[in-house]
Amino acid sequence: MTTTEQPASLISTLPGHYYTDPAVFALEQAHVFEDMWFCVVRSSDLPTPGSFRKVQVGRESVLVVRSRDGGLRAFLNVCRHRGAQICTEDSGAVKRAFQCPYHAWTYDLDGKLIAAPNLTKMPDVDRVQYGLVPVHLREWLGYAWVCLATEPPSFEDDVVGAVTERLGDVESIDRYELDSLTVGRRITYDVKANWKLIIENFMECYHCATIHPELTEVLPEFADGYAAQFFVGHGAEFGKEVQGFTVDGGEGFDKLPGVAEDQDRRYYAITVRPTVFVNLVPDHVVFHRMFPVAEDRTIVECDWLYSRDVVESGRDVSRSVELFHRVNEQDFAACERTQPAMSSRAYANGGVLVPSEHHIGAFHEWLTQRLSG
Ligand code: FES
Ligand SMILES: [Fe+2]
Repeated sequence: MTTTEQPASLISTLPGHYYTDPAVFALEQAHVFEDMWFCVVRSSDLPTPGSFRKVQVGRESVLVVRSRDGGLRAFLNVCRHRGAQICTEDSGAVKRAFQCPYHAWTYDLDGKLIAAPNLTKMPDVDRVQYGLVPVHLREWLGYAWVCLATEPPSFEDDVVGAVTERLGDVESIDRYELDSLTVGRRITYDVKANWKLIIENFMECYHCATIHPELTEVLPEFADGYAAQFFVGHGAEFGKEVQGFTVDGGEGFDKLPGVAEDQDRRYYAITVRPTVFVNLVPDHVVFHRMFPVAEDRTIVECDWLYSRDVVESGRDVSRSVELFHRVNEQDFAACERTQPAMSSRAYANGGVLVPSEHHIGAFHEWLTQRLSG
């Protein structure tokens, strides 16, 4: 093998096969999506006891459900009898229990086995032991995060820590009161690209001047290619003439009540590994959750969150939604354009990162370490 000297300005990316090899994706499912805190649903999507949503976390189907006591629970979507999937719909509501469609074993909203044909003739069957297998669940920022690991990593270190590392402190995000905001719009994108291309793209702004004309109009400092996440606590400032974070820079809504003066007229982007992006602007929050489904396909659910007043009064959020919707489409088109090249011989050893992208190297190091662990 010949090694060519690489200039200091450039560092290598991961080799192409990391984005195309099903074996790498399988390792990521086991060591990343199943072992870390994985953001699954907006808590308000499950409004009443019995509301549920079925989500894919790594290789597992997981049921998230609102219980009788008002709290959320998560279980593996697998019947303890002979393994049939309990739920096949993506979302819905049951009255008070989940019944397996195969032999009718029935579980309450806490996962306990409450009925089965001839169960009374089997008094030695413990109803909790043969209940649905529970999954760890935490709620933060108005979302439910689950972890399939037996011993989950510290939520405070991994999830809250990612936000504080970027913003400098946790109060800076608390001020947006994400858990009290309302979903004004949700758009689901089916992206034909590996999840890492989407993260890497989100982490850099070298592409902003080329593909995001509307965004760089609103955030002029993005035009020079240095992403705001370079600097702890820094939010990109709105342009002088810009009135709000909208597709044409026109007026948005009132600043969210808790947002501080020094956060006003600024945009903060946060990456929470492995699959969440949070975008904070004074009058709303754009929250992305990725669901990697294959090495070359990722579903992205994107929520636009506004104050309850804005949504309930029926005010028009479309100009505000349109800005980041365009950004999403521009970004995902770029990722889809990149995906096919990952299997090209031209990319067998990967590509390169320029100085304003060097921090992506830390993401690659983090990933390869997790996969080898
Ligand atoms: S597999 Fe579910 S009741 Fe038999
Ligand atoms: Fe972008």
